[in-house]
Amino acid sequence: MTNPNRATFGSKLGVILASVGSAVGLGNIWRFPYETGQNGGAAFLLVYFICVLVLGLPVMLTEFFIGRHSRKNTAGAFDTIAPGSKWNLIGYNGVLVAFLILGFYSVVAGWTLEYIYQSVTGSLAGKTAEQFAEGFNLFNSGVFRPILWTFVFIGLTHFIIVSGVKSGIERSSKIMMPLLFLILVGLCIRSVTLPGASKGLLFLFRPDFSKITSSVVLSSMGQAFFSLSVGMGCLVTYASYFGKNTNLPKTALTVTLLDTLVAILAGVIIFPAVFSFGIRPSAGPELVFITLPNVFQHLPWGALLSFVFFVLLAIAALTSTISLHEVATAYVLEEHHFTRKRAAILVSLGVMALGTISSLSFGVLKNFTLFGLTFFNLLDYVTAKLMLPFGGMLTCILVGWRVDRKILKAELTNHGTLPFYFFNVYAFLLKYLAPVAIGLIFLNELGLFRWLAG
Ligand code: PHE
Repeated sequence: MTNPNRATFGSKLGVILASVGSAVGLGNIWRFPYETGQNGGAAFLLVYFICVLVLGLPVMLTEFFIGRHSRKNTAGAFDTIAPGSKWNLIGYNGVLVAFLILGFYSVVAGWTLEYIYQSVTGSLAGKTAEQFAEGFNLFNSGVFRPILWTFVFIGLTHFIIVSGVKSGIERSSKIMMPLLFLILVGLCIRSVTLPGASKGLLFLFRPDFSKITSSVVLSSMGQAFFSLSVGMGCLVTYASYFGKNTNLPKTALTVTLLDTLVAILAGVIIFPAVFSFGIRPSAGPELVFITLPNVFQHLPWGALLSFVFFVLLAIAALTSTISLHEVATAYVLEEHHFTRKRAAILVSLGVMALGTISSLSFGVLKNFTLFGLTFFNLLDYVTAKLMLPFGGMLTCILVGWRVDRKILKAELTNHGTLPFYFFNVYAFLLKYLAPVAIGLIFLNELGLFRWLAG
């Protein structure tokens, strides 16, 4: 059943850095700050923490279980866990979600390249706040440039994927992730030493509980799933490359903590800067692309800072796009017996097509909307807020209710050789709390409780 020639990551550090690389991405540095800014700051952060701990972490560990136990791509893995049943649809859904996320994610990743380019050529300097907004809107509503950068980014991802699991994914993560942490800490120090930084920190850390509404809760949950890369089998795929000695609970905890730390650090970089310059924190998806370059240019060494920041963003994005790409590539490769190269080409072409439509939805396709959302926003909303939590819920139900406890425990403790003190807590979260909580958050958003109350 399992293939002895299947690739594995070469080291413990490689496992951690590749998984953290998947988790840490635009979700932390681009999406987290603007979601926090739009959803009331610290109150959002608090609900987010709870979602990460009681929903995200157990789902991550469960995905690790499924991946390493089956040693297959996402679709094949669910087939192995629940043979002959319809549960394998979760796996196929994961492959679809990987495409859909890449379809909008690579567009934003492409923007980071444009901003690296502009930082180098000096065209970000000497502009007013309005000119920054105009410049961004002019750029992303265009046809050629944003699509070109999207394709370049997909090309970079493609190149790493074709290089394979060990020499592509693992090696690139080992180089990029330490660099990312270094840049992050450097920028943090710069930001908190700005005059008026404390206002930004208060916004991020002092909660106003009246701000917690049903949509804030749904957004926090969506952000938690998105940021941790859970709910669509990305970590199932990565865990299928883990060695048999990898400590799954410890790895899940480390990845969760580091991912959360990076999101907080990104908040600490962005909000003091935003408040220090009197900018609205609720600017939305453009927060990082309009607000920050404006902030940077008022600082000494501004061009260098903005260059460094956008390199950070690009690196973070790349280690995530490779994990998404790998989900689809591994599926095509293993289930349809393509070579890695051919499988990757097929995936890249599909993503380019989706990316083109998403990118155009800021310009010529702006008025094509569904439920009031453009194609780009629809992909973001449907994946982060609906498909990931839903996938996570089904994964918990499947493993919590259908998998033999002994098998689960054996895999998570490496056949009894490692302790896992919280196994019972984990099993409870998996079986009851996580599925019920996710279900209630959905129902709440649909207005069920408001309807019952009244
Ligand atoms: N977690 C990544 C980020 O924060 C995005 C991602 C989602 C990657 C789902 C893989 C799977 O940017």
